[in-house]
Amino acid sequence: MNSQEGAGVVIHGTAPSIFLRNISKAFGETIALSDVSLDLRVGEVHALLGENGAGKTTLMKILYGLTQPDTGLIEAGGVALTINSPRDARAAGIGMVTQHFSLVKNMTVVENIALASANTFSLDLASVRKEINAASAKFGLEVSPDAVISSLPVALQQRVEILKALMSGCRYLILDEPTAVLGPQDIDSLLEVIKKLRSESGIGIVLISHKMAEIEQVADRVSVLRRGKVVSNSKVSGMSSQELIGLMMGNDEVAVAQRRPTQQLFGDPILALKGISVTTESGELNEVSFDVRSGEIVGVAGVSGNGQAELVRVLSGTLALDKGSVVIEGNTLGQTTPQSLMRAGVGMLGEDRHASAVHALQVMENLVLDCIDNFATKFQLKQKEILEHCESAITQFEIKTTPKQPLGTLSGGNMQKVLLARLFSRKPKVAIISQPTRGLDVMATRYVRSLIMQASTEGTAVLLVSEDLDEVLELADRVAVMYRGAIIGIVDGSTATRETLGQLMAGIKQ
Ligand SMILES: Nc1ncnc2c1ncn2[C@@H]1O[C@H](COP(=O)(O)OP(=O)(O)OP(=O)(O)O)[C@@H](O)[C@H]1O
Ligand SMILES: [Mg+2]
Repeated sequence: MNSQEGAGVVIHGTAPSIFLRNISKAFGETIALSDVSLDLRVGEVHALLGENGAGKTTLMKILYGLTQPDTGLIEAGGVALTINSPRDARAAGIGMVTQHFSLVKNMTVVENIALASANTFSLDLASVRKEINAASAKFGLEVSPDAVISSLPVALQQRVEILKALMSGCRYLILDEPTAVLGPQDIDSLLEVIKKLRSESGIGIVLISHKMAEIEQVADRVSVLRRGKVVSNSKVSGMSSQELIGLMMGNDEVAVAQRRPTQQLFGDPILALKGISVTTESGELNEVSFDVRSGEIVGVAGVSGNGQAELVRVLSGTLALDKGSVVIEGNTLGQTTPQSLMRAGVGMLGEDRHASAVHALQVMENLVLDCIDNFATKFQLKQKEILEHCESAITQFEIKTTPKQPLGTLSGGNMQKVLLARLFSRKPKVAIISQPTRGLDVMATRYVRSLIMQASTEGTAVLLVSEDLDEVLELADRVAVMYRGAIIGIVDGSTATRETLGQLMAGIKQ
């Protein structure tokens, strides 16, 4: 290998440092991995790409000791490693930040990190605090040691997770879709951190991502998993996004994104916001007024933190208004509650799919969670009807699952389909949809966007909050841009461009 290759200080010429050899794993009928081999090297960013359900997380959970393979082994320096638990993995220098963080929410940063590294009963928080400060500076991961986890935004919680892994001395760091929970600015800074960890600390990083641009930007090598098999392993430099997508999809067709022709005739306003103002610790809304008509998709764009989260909270009934009102089909709701909104026909797909679903419950139970009254007599649940409802949703929404599978074991894309099925099968008058395709592969993204378009064509008024400008430009009939808690402009979706939206997002009015 030529030492100019890759941007990292790869220790060229040395043998790959960790081998996963011939790993297979089945869950009942599902073959998650079939004879997979992969090597990881220090000082290299190795991207793992593949459609939802391809087996990426399962493979990395095996490496980190969270799951045991049926067959196969893990080797370092010619010696087989026994990895029966994350503790074994950490001892072998392997750290992982799973998509679902494992921090104790009501404890502080320093307490969480002390817990993770605790091997004695007497915790010396003062010295852990010192170590955190030193590690923060070394790796460029600034955190305040005494902040309580629950008070931190997701990007900072993730930073704590990364720091925790690095402080345990890992030489390999697995990041499972780290950017799926972040907005654009935080993605950029995470990618910088990844480059720095590789070049300055020689850490070997596994980066799972569905975003080709991120892979092009930071990865040295990419392995593609398709239906449980490794179908390619190559250097990234010189590869285009299209080539990467081609590797991932094989012969499957990827439909090209197409804007729905803007509907000429919208119905009446179904959702109207009238002068909504709120103030919270994290942000505010300032006299926000606009409406969404039947059959219309209104996109909400903006740099994250400009009031989008507060808007969604108002429309999910979890944030009290200081002023203004929400009007649905002419009926003023005033102070919203989750119940009053649901009764008025408002459905919601929240930004955090894990928060709006119960992982331990079955797919069929999750599907009826928010309309359980429709499936219950006074004394018991109508199990047969729940099952039928679920089977038809699985067919209609093409979900790869069975009714009784625990929701938490579905791949990200399929979990999102369950939540969309729950939302749309009730034919809501209004759908509030936030970041619907985060973490979804190219195909699932296409499918989810087509579902949103279809629901709107059938008359649902859709409010789409998304940090993905391409998504907003593809779907929205009108785009409302938020800036400092207010709507700075509403533009026609068919003529809007990244530039016009970008200016408004920066606070510049045309
Ligand atoms: N504990 C489990 N029980 C049953 N099936 C499981 C379990 N864990 C994973 N699976 C199945 O194994 C397959 C691979 O899942 P995995 O989570 O590894 O996919 P992935 O590539 O990470 O997908 P995504 O991009 O959606 O995160 C899927 O079909 C999934 O439903
Ligand atoms: Mg996964």
